[in-house]
Amino acid sequence: MKIFLDTAEIEEIRIAARWGVLDGVTTNPTLYAKVGGSYEDILRQICDLTAGPVSAEVVAEDVEGMLREGRAFAKLAPNIVVKVPMSEEGLEAISRFADEGIKTNCTLIFTANQGLLAAKAGASLLSPFVGRLDDINEEGMEVIRELVPIIEMYELDSEVLVASVRHPRHVTEAALLGAHIATVPFKVLQQMVHHPLTDKGIVTFREDWEKARKAAAEKDAQTAAAAGGSGRHN
Ligand code: E4P
Repeated sequence: MKIFLDTAEIEEIRIAARWGVLDGVTTNPTLYAKVGGSYEDILRQICDLTAGPVSAEVVAEDVEGMLREGRAFAKLAPNIVVKVPMSEEGLEAISRFADEGIKTNCTLIFTANQGLLAAKAGASLLSPFVGRLDDINEEGMEVIRELVPIIEMYELDSEVLVASVRHPRHVTEAALLGAHIATVPFKVLQQMVHHPLTDKGIVTFREDWEKARKAAAEKDAQTAAAAGGSGRHN
């Protein structure tokens, strides 16, 4: 399963790229609002850090507006994917972008049917929001459980991108369900790295290593002292 970072923070993307685990990036207007500045500059910088797909979201609600914004994003870098919300207008825009050879990520998907429609319209990426469904006491992963086999059974040319990930367990479940991609906040990526027993084990190994080195150094010193002492008597 591919792992995307769900952020517009350049430093977080740089770190994940250095770890060798970064397959792409998703942004949205809320993530962009957290960093501010020029959205276009941020997207260009992200595209310099990863060759994987970088999602840039349109905010227009009409087809022509979505097309205008999306075409401008697509000119920024070859790996830009235009993020379009699930709606009647969104489906039309996705279909028009597909005709123009511009890749899209259909966002704000909450049912397998919405995912099926987006795939048929020509979206490369389908983004079901699992966390927001969990937030309203629904089972977010159920959408992934239904959508992944539908995409595979009908050999649709789209990938299921699990979005709105809240914790590492979402990532494990996404992988077990055969999702193609999970996009994760940097904090979740860090949580995936750590385990209390791993972190404790690293500290214990270092302490034991230092104790052993100290004991070995003391033994060497005693041996040298003994050898020096017996040399004087001879
Ligand atoms: C990513 O493509 C989505 O926009 C993002 O995962 C939404 O996450 P949220 O529900 O935590 O805002």
